[in-house]
Amino acid sequence: MAEKLVLAGPASEELGKSVAQSLGLGTLDAEFKVFPDGESKFTLDARVSGKSIFLIQSTHPPVDQHLFQLLLAAHRLSQDGAKVTAVVPYLAYARQDKEFLPGEGVTLGVVAHLARSVGVRRLVTVDIHSAEGLSLFSFPTYSVSAIPNLVEYAKSQMRLDDPVVIAPDMGGSKRTEAFAQLYGAKFLQLTKTRDRSSGDVRVKEDKLDVEGKQVLIVDDIISTGGTVRAAAEAVLKGGAKGVSVVGVHGLFVGSATQTLEKAGLRHVVCTNTVPGKFNKVDVSEAISAHLKTLDE
Ligand code: R5P
Repeated sequence: MAEKLVLAGPASEELGKSVAQSLGLGTLDAEFKVFPDGESKFTLDARVSGKSIFLIQSTHPPVDQHLFQLLLAAHRLSQDGAKVTAVVPYLAYARQDKEFLPGEGVTLGVVAHLARSVGVRRLVTVDIHSAEGLSLFSFPTYSVSAIPNLVEYAKSQMRLDDPVVIAPDMGGSKRTEAFAQLYGAKFLQLTKTRDRSSGDVRVKEDKLDVEGKQVLIVDDIISTGGTVRAAAEAVLKGGAKGVSVVGVHGLFVGSATQTLEKAGLRHVVCTNTVPGKFNKVDVSEAISAHLKTLDE
């Protein structure tokens, strides 16, 4: 059986270490460097021929830099004869997994194509935006669910009295419904529209049965915070007595933190797929549990 090792990229150093620890695997030494002009360099300090490497690197902002580091490392490792499993806890570009408007490039398809061409043999991510996106990859893929960990945290730490769990849009509703079911809470789905040019988000406010309730918004990504802000405003207008948010991947770009502060949220909780101050839920065990099932 091939020796297994972990290589944690610069975007996922902490999470990578935790995964290696929980799997009882050694880590590979390598150097990732970024030049002043933004170019990346990767140097591998080990022989990896015949080994199986879990290359762990999230692709949060700076997205293209993190993605390129992942591709560069995967290429070097596979050229040296390793079997590369890309573990990408937050998989960027997963929202553009089809041509929504005529002429748009299918960005996730390009990521899948690049990953294959640099020698990635398997890809593991956490809560991909939509499971359909995995069909763009021509090698085995798997999306680990962080929902059980988030439910456990919400129940034990947030202690909301009989909350209503809300999906801010159709896209994430299956994941949010799974959260509500596991929690044993009522589930509601809002109708969100986003102006595809300006990015402005609106949420329909009619028929929201949240009067006097604690509301828990559950989404996969918090990026600018616009979706959460619009959903929070709608439920507060609908008479909710409090609103909190749980997101799997907390990107918090630009002024997202201030946007969420203004929205009057009681709790903001994310996982550690992306480093940040709202990371309260560790997904290293969930990732490791899946990696343990892989043969080599
Ligand atoms: C979109 O469909 C996703 O599920 C999230 O709702 C979205 O990416 C959040 O982005 P933002 O925080 O910028 O509104």
